[in-house]
Amino acid sequence: MDVLTVHYTPTALRLRLLGEGRRAEVLARQWVGLGVTLTLHPRQPPEASLSALLDACHWQQVNTPPTPAPGDIWVIAHEQPEDDLVWLDEAERAGVPVFAPGFPDRSTVHLPGRYVQGQPVRPGVAGRGRVTLVGAGPGDPGLLTQKAAVCLRDADVIVHDRLVSREILALASPDAQRFYVGKERSNHSVAQDDINDSLARWARAGYHVVRLKGGDPFIFGRGGEELEVLAREGVPFEVVPGITAALGVSACTGIPLTHRDHAQSVRFITGHLKNGSCDLDWPTLAHPGQTLVFYMGLGTLSAICDNLISHGASPERPIALVEQGTTARQQVHVGTLAGIAEQIKSLVIAPPTLIIVGDVVSLHETLAWFDPETAPSLGWSHGKHPTPSTT
Ligand SMILES: C[S@@+](CC[C@H](N)C(=O)[O-])C[C@H]1O[C@@H](n2cnc3c(N)ncnc32)[C@H](O)[C@@H]1O
Repeated sequence: MDVLTVHYTPTALRLRLLGEGRRAEVLARQWVGLGVTLTLHPRQPPEASLSALLDACHWQQVNTPPTPAPGDIWVIAHEQPEDDLVWLDEAERAGVPVFAPGFPDRSTVHLPGRYVQGQPVRPGVAGRGRVTLVGAGPGDPGLLTQKAAVCLRDADVIVHDRLVSREILALASPDAQRFYVGKERSNHSVAQDDINDSLARWARAGYHVVRLKGGDPFIFGRGGEELEVLAREGVPFEVVPGITAALGVSACTGIPLTHRDHAQSVRFITGHLKNGSCDLDWPTLAHPGQTLVFYMGLGTLSAICDNLISHGASPERPIALVEQGTTARQQVHVGTLAGIAEQIKSLVIAPPTLIIVGDVVSLHETLAWFDPETAPSLGWSHGKHPTPSTT
């Protein structure tokens, strides 16, 4: 039989779940927080925990069998296989797309792993539901705070970004349900609204959700935006800070961000300029005696250097590009504002990359101490998350 693999966005899934026991519940839990429309069709009163899940997710229960309707998928998960067979026959007669995990060879639809293959998590517990926004640091698991490690072990659900290293994810409880919602500049795998919505739904269903972000969640991490939604919706939350990339990279390159002889202040700046336009305060940024740290600036490196020079910075001002800082893939490229773009033109620079501008960069030559070969984190291969785990 041909099996159709479904690539729906979760919010477009309309599922009719046939069953009422543990098997149906395990399946239903895979869809919590994804915006799926689910209707349960039990033949007898469902288990109390399944009823509670339906309530928490605003899913419906209809105590009559489903009738075929365009766009619906029947998911068949009774406790007894013979009951599944009855409904598989019915689906076949009616030509309804059907997914029955107990009978893969009779399923006409395969829902992708993200929605069905996650580990069953323990049932939600009233009063436990909350979101902890956790900073995972710049990559090296040794730079994770103790509080973050405790949260990871306690989490029922982990919603993480691309910049969380696999070594850090490995510290989480094996029971935790994991969702990768990575963001790359041009490819937002899950829309921000869907992420916000998922966090609230999981927490309301009685789960401890850890929203895990690279570095610190309040530094170019959209942590504030996500918490604003939770605050508006009355979902309890906490925040655990992380070591931001600037601090991790500074330490592991021997480039102090301030130094009495070179820089009296430091600025964290987004290099993700709108349409490459120069909407930053370049005259101020061009002043000497400060250190500039550009996040997300690899794509706009030339614009950054050109703008600084044209607003008065010396073309000889030192600049460093640091790839995958604190990990085994850390690489440091040191140059000048006038020369760096040409210098790296023939190289393949792997994100995440941080840019540091200022006289402090010259200290790298003397203070570099970090040996990437001994780093516990392997980093990210070509900037892609090594295990885009969605389960
Ligand atoms: C969306 S921002 C997130 C920053 C994060 N919240 C933090 O506090 O580090 C992503 C940018 O952080 C920088 N970054 C994060 N981790 C890095 C690392 N290990 N090495 C170099 N740059 C890194 C890069 O500039 C990357 O484009």
